[in-house]
Amino acid sequence: MVASIFRRSEIPWGGPVDGLLQEEITLDEQRLVKIPDSLSDVEAAAAPCAGSTAWQALVTFGGIKPGDVVLVQGTGGVALFGLQVAIMAGAHVIVTSSNDNKLERAKALGAFAGVNYRTTPEWSEAVLALTDGRGVDHILELGGPGSFAQSLKAIRSGGRISAIGYLGSSEGGINPLDVFRKQAVVHGISVGSRLALESLLHAMGRSSQRPVIDSTFEWTNATAAFRRLHAGEHFGKIVLTF
Ligand SMILES: NC(=O)c1ccc[n+]([C@@H]2O[C@H](COP(=O)([O-])OP(=O)(O)OC[C@H]3O[C@@H](n4cnc5c(N)ncnc54)[C@H](OP(=O)(O)O)[C@@H]3O)[C@@H](O)[C@H]2O)c1
Repeated sequence: MVASIFRRSEIPWGGPVDGLLQEEITLDEQRLVKIPDSLSDVEAAAAPCAGSTAWQALVTFGGIKPGDVVLVQGTGGVALFGLQVAIMAGAHVIVTSSNDNKLERAKALGAFAGVNYRTTPEWSEAVLALTDGRGVDHILELGGPGSFAQSLKAIRSGGRISAIGYLGSSEGGINPLDVFRKQAVVHGISVGSRLALESLLHAMGRSSQRPVIDSTFEWTNATAAFRRLHAGEHFGKIVLTF
């Protein structure tokens, strides 16, 4: 069993409120979902927030279909789950990253192209070149105000931008006319539902895709895990073990 994401009317344990870093806990059974036998506890533990959010954006609301082109930003938890959900759906994936080695690793996971957003700040131009000028169908927008203008240039006409994160910054300006010109659908995503988590685990349990685990730390060494996260060295999820 794995702890599910919080219900909206409840305290968001594991989010902004402390409360899940403990060895024993009593939870309402509605907070738990069954994990497939083919996933380890560590793999399943990586899925509730990042994975369900990617599923909610691309499948529940995004209606992703085979042949679509999806862009994910960075190589953290949400981005790599997004990559894997897209591949399971038969879509093609472009990844942006600050690190060329990580881009190669993303390609090994199935991405067809990668763009380094640090060495190519105008990364939308590279994305348009990769899509013959058309742009991509879906973007998991994780950079926030710092990358949104690029996302609006990289999305195809009528494409969907899922506003999920603000890794780059939380302040900035967006010109609504740019949304209008692209006829873009911009959808704010606030994690995934329990159904999204169950669907993701079910799909991964039946596919060759596995949650990408960067590293595991003993829970008593959680500060080292947070240091690694803060350093931005990770590729995928960092998991605490008990
Ligand atoms: N809305 C929701 O429900 C929801 C749910 C989960 C997460 N989030 C948010 O989504 C974001 C990502 O979460 P996460 O758990 O995937 O984080 P994470 O695992 O810590 O991923 C961070 C990665 O993002 C990349 N990155 C950093 N700065 C960037 C920038 N300016 N532009 C593009 N990519 C950048 C880096 O990848 P490289 O090293 O490859 O460059 C970094 O390793 C966070 O802002 C988080 O708060 C929102």
